[in-house]
Amino acid sequence: MKPIRKAVFPVAGLGTRFLPATKSVPKEMLPLIDKPLIQYAVDEAKAAGIEEFIFITSSGKSALENYFSSMPALEQSLADKGKVDILDALQASALPGGSACFIRQDQPLGLGHAVSLARNAVGDAPFAVILPDDVIWANTPALAQMVDCAAHTDRHMIATQAVAEESLSSYGVVDIARSAGAVQKLRGLVEKPAAGTAPSRYGIVGRYVLQPSVFDRLDELTPGAGGEIQLTDAIAADLGSVGVDGYAFDGRRFDCGSVRGYLEATVAFAQDRPELDGVFDTPSGLLHKVA
Ligand code: UTP
Repeated sequence: MKPIRKAVFPVAGLGTRFLPATKSVPKEMLPLIDKPLIQYAVDEAKAAGIEEFIFITSSGKSALENYFSSMPALEQSLADKGKVDILDALQASALPGGSACFIRQDQPLGLGHAVSLARNAVGDAPFAVILPDDVIWANTPALAQMVDCAAHTDRHMIATQAVAEESLSSYGVVDIARSAGAVQKLRGLVEKPAAGTAPSRYGIVGRYVLQPSVFDRLDELTPGAGGEIQLTDAIAADLGSVGVDGYAFDGRRFDCGSVRGYLEATVAFAQDRPELDGVFDTPSGLLHKVA
């Protein structure tokens, strides 16, 4: 098994659930307290030993590229003014020079299509995929949990999480042959099962460790659900050969691609920041009282 040093961040989606905000601000740049969603994803990748960061972007997402550019004049100005804490935070958010690359997805043909564009940048080694709108709160970062485990296997690995029965039909759901600890040996994957037909309670979450064979499977695919090239279909096509494991990570996931999940994450992350103590203890209806 080769080490996992590269991660793909598909960030070319339209983000329609956050319109009109996402008319001009990429969804991945929405701040969770004081860091954009993409920063949480990159920090999680760094904690898992990732050294190369491959972003699949689209037109209108130049803010993302700008975000990862260094700003020497701003850094100098903060240093001159002795704003050491802010300077530290700014420098901690940076990516090492030459470690990031940006690839354009010209049309939003689906998550699978976005990942397929990373083929040359990834090469012939296993790699991680992180969807930045899934933010995961965990003692050991979720991708690090998976990479530790994936180091002992040559199979694809996808993150899974137990989901409420009534929500299963909006997830990809795994069909589990058997489980050992967090690892689930899978015999099937079902995209958005009709109510009452899900093969398990475990939904797929936006973290993957994939073998390079997935690129061949993606090339063979025709559009699936919603007319898009689905990553799940490509992984499922390798079930009988490479094999696929689920990994029921330890942590809490927030669906920051939805307004509700994003707000839940904002409250949860704020409650963990001592300097924001009490912010969310205000009585409901405050806006009306002010008016
Ligand atoms: P979503 O299903 O959340 O779609 O994509 P979206 O367009 O980002 O958001 P909504 O549903 O319109 O609100 C899941 C992930 O796949 C990426 C997205 O950027 C997100 O990280 N994606 C999706 C692409 O990179 N390209 C695509 O063509 C589709």
